Amino acid sequence: MANSGVDWQARSEVVRLKGAFGPIGGMTVEREIMGDIVDRIRADHTMMVRLLGRLETLVGSFTQGGEPDLHLMGEMIDFLVTYPDMCHHPMEDLLYDALERKAPQAAASIADMRREHEAMAGQLRNLAQAMSSILMEVEVSRETFSAMVRNFMARQLHHLTNEETGLLKMARDVLDAEDLQRLGDEAREKISNFGECRQMVRHAHFLPEAEAAER
Ligand SMILES: [Fe+2]
Ligand SMILES: [Fe+2]
Repeated sequence: MANSGVDWQARSEVVRLKGAFGPIGGMTVEREIMGDIVDRIRADHTMMVRLLGRLETLVGSFTQGGEPDLHLMGEMIDFLVTYPDMCHHPMEDLLYDALERKAPQAAASIADMRREHEAMAGQLRNLAQAMSSILMEVEVSRETFSAMVRNFMARQLHHLTNEETGLLKMARDVLDAEDLQRLGDEAREKISNFGECRQMVRHAHFLPEAEAAER
């Protein structure tokens, strides 16, 4: 694999994913892999968009009465429940704390994003519960389940688009390159499960191979 063994912190790459999300988003995500905290957060966002795209395909088939791989759907939802709280939001907390100190005018937006993290976590817990009912063959309306997934996806995409175009952009404007690099290093040191986070991505077989190899 082309990227295996490459020190991803030292790499500089911009990848544009146009229309990665098809019917819901049709959005463009730009990712730079350089190892500072904004790059790491953006790499996660790109991964999430891809994951949601795959989940949407499975859920679409399920809604139309198809027989998608339900265990795979369950694994994706488990990942969505675990990874953001354990790995992604702690990185954003580090960045947002630094941003609050440097740009007090960002405080309201930051508070909004943090509230959204809580709200999405609640939504995902409900989704995970519905998914485990489906896996246990408890009757769950396919339309209801589909609506839950789509509501979550729409909210998640809206949230990360706001971050990409708002706070992450602002972070690049008001924090200097050394600050952002230091915060990237801090994320690795302070997030107690950071190694586990990278392993989770590496072993998430439902992510594109290239995605896992970059971590
Ligand atoms: Fe966020
Ligand atoms: Fe985020």
